[in-house]
Amino acid sequence: MARKAALAAASLLSATLVAAQQIGTAVPEVHPKLTTQRCTVAGGCKPVTNAVVLDAATRSIHKAGDPATPCTVGSGACADAASCAKNCALEGIPSYAAQGVKTAGDALTLNQFMPNGDGSYRVVTPRAYLLDAAGRDYEPMRLLNAEFSFDVDLSRLVCGMNGALYMGEMDLTGGRSEMNPAGAAYGTGYCDAQCPTLPWIDGVANINNAYGACCNEMDIWEANALAQTYTPHPCTKDGVYKCQGEQECGLDNGVCDKWGASFNPYSYGFKDYYGRDKTVNTNKKFTVVTQFLTDDKTPTGTLAEIRRLYVQDGKVIQNAVVSAGGEQHDSINDAYVNSTAAWTVKRGGLETMGRAIGRGMTLTFSIWADNGGFMNWLDSGNAGPCNETEGDPKLIQRDHPDAAVVFSNMKWGEIGSTFQAPPKCVKHRREA
Ligand SMILES: *[C@@H]1O[C@H](CO)[C@@H](O)[C@H](O)[C@H]1NC(C)=O
Ligand SMILES: *[C@@H]1O[C@H](CO)[C@@H](O)[C@H](O)[C@H]1NC(C)=O
Repeated sequence: MARKAALAAASLLSATLVAAQQIGTAVPEVHPKLTTQRCTVAGGCKPVTNAVVLDAATRSIHKAGDPATPCTVGSGACADAASCAKNCALEGIPSYAAQGVKTAGDALTLNQFMPNGDGSYRVVTPRAYLLDAAGRDYEPMRLLNAEFSFDVDLSRLVCGMNGALYMGEMDLTGGRSEMNPAGAAYGTGYCDAQCPTLPWIDGVANINNAYGACCNEMDIWEANALAQTYTPHPCTKDGVYKCQGEQECGLDNGVCDKWGASFNPYSYGFKDYYGRDKTVNTNKKFTVVTQFLTDDKTPTGTLAEIRRLYVQDGKVIQNAVVSAGGEQHDSINDAYVNSTAAWTVKRGGLETMGRAIGRGMTLTFSIWADNGGFMNWLDSGNAGPCNETEGDPKLIQRDHPDAAVVFSNMKWGEIGSTFQAPPKCVKHRREA
């Protein structure tokens, strides 16, 4: 997530969020199932039944045994971390659909707004994580020397919207502990490279907002129908790191690369590459393939390149070839990072990003609008064709309350195993 965007998201969360950590008994948690596939070149793809879980911030967090009394970090029964853990309880989600999350087979639909039934809409802006088949921990995404592909339909994502599919180096148990028995099954443990100040970090109350929740972040996909980018954001610390103060949490010297090394063809002048009726046509579904190539072609090697391909209407569409630092690039490699993102180099570049991808990250799905900056960083000015004001969340809610994204057909495995390169077309010549 770009910086402004994440700051807006963080403030949105703190507004809606209370939090805490016994498991509530008022509403059982029922995870929507989602089919994904694991692939090998020799054996093809095999389905696995995963599930999705909404972030803990979406939940009711109340005094244990008293669902009507909310727990607020820093006051009442939740004055310090130990009393919060003892006295507060995190509930199940009464209805995923009412929170804008629906699954059907291999498809996950996220809606930004939900109808109230009287013609008006409310903002739900869900963020959800992929759980493992047991539904207890996050699915460990280890994608070094591997590729990840998914289909996306974002035809209803207008300027200012962001339908994101990304990975954070969250604790795979969601920080499950005595202080936080709920863990990943209740969506605890969020962190990202913006080091958001959250009321709870790994399920433990963050009294006085003393810390930010930092971790490595790999943005595989941040997009709407008009603009898109993919971006590694490495951090100098492994796992979830609680940063403190401007020195650690800040933009310039902080532990995480908040800007990232973004690849967005539009910003290099490729204005007809991606969008409605463009080369990658966002009026209909397409497949996004992302390959994490290592220097020695093994899963223990050093991440050397992050490649991108698209497949639409049975055709493989190569990434745009952009010019940066006097060289041509159709992917993010060390040379690209060196010439475009000094701040990423400073946090260890692709090598550091790759170590996190090797340890295992959590797949995250979100849809959101940007109160602070109208998502201009993604789709306006140099980045895309949208103007500076149409991404105002209030305008989107008024004019496009159906804003939604569908992610489907997620597959991962060996390089070349998740999509079919169609047979080469043989041209027949007429006999002379
Ligand atoms: C990128 O920069 C680092 C040091 O900053 C250097 O070691 C490395 O060789 C450079 N890589 C490329 C491909 O330019
Ligand atoms: C921005 O785009 C919207 C939607 O197309 C349009 O209504 C509005 O007039 C535009 N604003 C400017 C300043 O161009």
